[in-house]
Amino acid sequence: MIEIQNREDLLCENVGRDESGALTFAGQDLAALAKIYGTPLYLYDEARIREKMRTYLSAVEKAFGGRGHVQYASKAASFKRIYEIAAEEGFGIDVVSCGEIYTAYAAGFPLERAYFHSNNKTDADIAFAMDRGVGTFVADNAEELYAIENEAAKRGISQRVLLRITPGIDPHTYAAVATGKVDSKFGSAIETGQAASITALALSLPHVKLCGFHCHVGSQIFDESVYLSTQRIMLGFIAEMYRTQGYLAEELDLGGGLGVRYTKDQPTLDIEKTLCAVADAMKKTAAELGIPMPAVSFEPGRSIVADAGMTLYRVGSRKKIPGYKTYISVDGGMTDNPRFALYGSPYTVLPVLPHKGAEEEICSVVGRCCESGDILQEGVSLPADLCRGELIAMLTTGAYQYAMASNYNRIPRPAVVMLRDGAHRLAVRRETVEDLVSLDV
Ligand code: LLP
Repeated sequence: MIEIQNREDLLCENVGRDESGALTFAGQDLAALAKIYGTPLYLYDEARIREKMRTYLSAVEKAFGGRGHVQYASKAASFKRIYEIAAEEGFGIDVVSCGEIYTAYAAGFPLERAYFHSNNKTDADIAFAMDRGVGTFVADNAEELYAIENEAAKRGISQRVLLRITPGIDPHTYAAVATGKVDSKFGSAIETGQAASITALALSLPHVKLCGFHCHVGSQIFDESVYLSTQRIMLGFIAEMYRTQGYLAEELDLGGGLGVRYTKDQPTLDIEKTLCAVADAMKKTAAELGIPMPAVSFEPGRSIVADAGMTLYRVGSRKKIPGYKTYISVDGGMTDNPRFALYGSPYTVLPVLPHKGAEEEICSVVGRCCESGDILQEGVSLPADLCRGELIAMLTTGAYQYAMASNYNRIPRPAVVMLRDGAHRLAVRRETVEDLVSLDV
């Protein structure tokens, strides 16, 4: 293990520098890891994932007593090792596809602790999930409820179901991740009366066991007031369903969405403080409305894995266009991280080795895809003498990078390596060009 010497702002305490000034992650030597596993390379700090899971578990315990639950939103990073960790930490999971269900199943995850989301579960998806014992379905719409009823009836079971409700909240995050507004492909809106109708429908179906409601208003949220407004609307809806339909929801799932720090100017959100503030507000609202507090669940994805991740790239060319800017091309790109191309997401990019005294230059860090939009980050300050073959690190890449990676231009996806207690272990091997043709017939 390498001692962390320097306390400059490296976003998260698992990023440091050794005595020579070289960047470290989870106390490990990045050049050595790149040499063993190649680049681009996804690294995960396992201790950090566990720490975040424990923080959530203790926060829900403190905030809601024994009536709080947490499911890891595995869309943020889905591979077997993550599900093994979630199982060991006593977490639930949120899954959205047969692929995620199967990966969790292959990892031995107890699927009765899984919540099956998605706005369009096919009949085959529903059958697949029921046959593997997925515990809870989060039904998005009426057609889906009928299909769940149908498959549950065939199996002679009563399926636990939550209904996805759109509370009509705009979380003021980027458009692609705002999901709680009325105009959304997800859920049934309270405002239009569709949420009340779908509740009546669920209550009428003999093989559907309605357990409560779910909502998720968006992602990368820093503003606590978004959750405070959401709880008020959702508890109001629970009270209304009690009054009008005599149905008292046992569970309210408030989704995920807590923001993480990608750059120095973003704040660090205090998970426990946020959950306790939500719990306090909920207790007051429930008392005002004269309803008992439901059990409460959260589904964090990003805030569990984002700062447990780092990506290493090797620099290829440095192209200075006089009068314009400098492009640093690396051996990855939008195929391993499409988030800047999709959302303009900010990141912190640093050279792995120190360039003491070197001038800094503002660069665009770009990938090697045949597409101008293949940009990993713009406006990055990097040493002006950074050259071919050097390593650079992109911080906070644990959420929605590997999960959203593609094979555009037939570029194989990088390996995923877990770091723990000074040791490293492959979690997902690097794709080969042979893997890429293995499905072609
Ligand atoms: N629950 C539901 C129903 C969700 O749809 C999501 C995220 C979560 C929980 C977890 O949210 P989180 O805690 O990770 O914010 N690809 C985008 C993010 C899409 C989020 C989709 N849903 C990105 O890279 O920013």
